[in-house]
Amino acid sequence: SAAEKGGWSSFMAKEISEEPEAVANTLIGRTADGAVHLEELAPLGDEVLAGIDRIVVIACGTAAYAGMLAKYAVESWSRIPVDVELSHEFRYRSPVITERTLVISISQSGETMDTLMAVKFARESGAKVLSVCNTQGSSIPRESDAVLYTHAGPEVAVASTKAFVAQVAALYLVGLHLATVRGTLDAKAIARNVRQLHDIPEKLAKTIESANRLRELAHWMADTQSVLFLGRNVGYPIAMEGALKLKELAYIHAEGFAAGELKHGPIALIEPGQVVFVIVPSPRDKLSLHPKVVSNIQEIRARGARVIAIAEQGDAAVHPYADEVIPIPLAAPLFEPILAVAPLHIFAMELAAAKGLDVDQPRNLAKSVTVE
Ligand code: G6P
Repeated sequence: SAAEKGGWSSFMAKEISEEPEAVANTLIGRTADGAVHLEELAPLGDEVLAGIDRIVVIACGTAAYAGMLAKYAVESWSRIPVDVELSHEFRYRSPVITERTLVISISQSGETMDTLMAVKFARESGAKVLSVCNTQGSSIPRESDAVLYTHAGPEVAVASTKAFVAQVAALYLVGLHLATVRGTLDAKAIARNVRQLHDIPEKLAKTIESANRLRELAHWMADTQSVLFLGRNVGYPIAMEGALKLKELAYIHAEGFAAGELKHGPIALIEPGQVVFVIVPSPRDKLSLHPKVVSNIQEIRARGARVIAIAEQGDAAVHPYADEVIPIPLAAPLFEPILAVAPLHIFAMELAAAKGLDVDQPRNLAKSVTVE
């Protein structure tokens, strides 16, 4: 009903507006004085966590992209190798799992059958399972050794938005906890990252407030047949998420690519008028990925692509080459993608609305897929 939507045109519009709150609420009570406190992880035991030699993240859909993003942070902070696998793929091969493997499942609903089966399978294979879940009392937490709840609040729209950013926040906390118990980051570095996490809600709110330009773009693009998304490093999972949302909501053929892969295939798709979103790394990033992505933009622009860049505020280098620049506030490189995803959520929603589609209930999809 209209009342449940709190004055918003759709649950999705309401839930995107709640992204900052979803992150803030997921952090509440879990950090103090620059340190991370995750009592929920106690059932796993800090000695066990100190001894794990591998993490396997299992999830489906948007939750899997949250896992892909977290891989960059968790590996960098804890030095534990992380693999991210779709639950239904993981379950039906012979994955190498030992008692030193930590499996982390991610599910908004806690009812996704593919992920539930994968969790049971992982435990039968001897792994400890930590589940990141948004729904109290759901099935996946019941089957897990430990549960870290995201506090995004109920998510009604079929396509996941606020749960995604909450999942990333929760996984970043896990990464910092692991770095603490394993001593791979010192207290100062932990405190710096905790501060970055706490700064996200305000920056995310600013990003969402300044999204009007995306609304206009989406309305002009109602007839678009195909959209590509390029991202590199932490921008890569965001490119995948942007493409997924456009497929789900606007029924547009969309693909996300790693920007470095462009010349190995996807560039053949570029023809005049092709719209390409590019998630641009910060010019301040120490890996020097920024000039590489700017040169990707030049390459596709030279072939007629229409480029919409999502770039750090004040990034002057992209302006001459992009048709549109959507600015996001400054954040450390690992945290930028949590800001960059919101414009893509808004764009997909607005494009679907421009086509007259039901953004909360896209055709053929279900909020929780309780069959394999
Ligand atoms: C469905 C939804 C997606 C969601 C996926 C995983 O396919 O349409 O939006 O990402 O399930 O759901 P879960 O509840 O496990 O996060």
